[in-house]
Amino acid sequence: MSHRTPLIAGNWKMNKTPAEGVELAKALVAQVGTESAVQIVLCPPFTALDAVGRAIEGTHLALGAQNMHDKASGAFTGEVSATMLRGLHAGYVILGHSERRSIFGEDDAFINRKVLAALEASLKPILCVGELLSEREAGRTNEVVRIQVEKGLAGVPAGRAEQVVIAYEPVWAIGTGKTATPAMAQEVHAFIRGLLAAQFGAEIAARVRILYGGSMKPDNADALLAEHDIDGGLIGGASLEAKSFVDLVRSAAKSLAP
Ligand code: PGA
Repeated sequence: MSHRTPLIAGNWKMNKTPAEGVELAKALVAQVGTESAVQIVLCPPFTALDAVGRAIEGTHLALGAQNMHDKASGAFTGEVSATMLRGLHAGYVILGHSERRSIFGEDDAFINRKVLAALEASLKPILCVGELLSEREAGRTNEVVRIQVEKGLAGVPAGRAEQVVIAYEPVWAIGTGKTATPAMAQEVHAFIRGLLAAQFGAEIAARVRILYGGSMKPDNADALLAEHDIDGGLIGGASLEAKSFVDLVRSAAKSLAP
């Protein structure tokens, strides 16, 4: 960990009704609502954004969405825009999650348009990248990650690059209980920071948060967060219960200790 403010984001995926979301958010506020050393972001489904946003109002917790469309408005049944998310006081949006890429066929060009639209609307994109198991086994991890980062961030002005958060999520580790070892993750995180330096310069690259995601849990978080280029986590399963999510926030706060 470094001078970058660590970020722990909960990706609730398609879980929690508004009432359940409020219950979880209130439990988190009670336990880590004043935690200012760690940026905490809750990403409920669209239907719970408004209620969860109200439950965390005035606290250090921020609100994020799990997806959006790149267009501002129009005939796009079932979609929501960056402006609509801003209207609910969302500050972050997860883009290019591997489930969006694999189940819903999103490609790098579409994801790039969303990144640009999010930044335009002052929403911080959490751009997800990561390789499949077959790609890792074929020695293609860096190539796959490079293409996703470069295409995902194409056209991002250097002046806005610091608003971007990258989440490295090896697809084989998501929801499987398998995590990358800290050394494996650090290697890819350092590689990503090098890509950011090539595009935006070393100074800006040093300020961008790069999160790890994929079965991050209280029992493996300390070792991952101790790595120099791992600035937090994008948490799926372990974000659905207050206890495990709070433990992860505490791990991130602890990682700041000299
Ligand atoms: P997981 O999900 O923590 O359940 O592996 C992470 C993610 O998909 O963002």
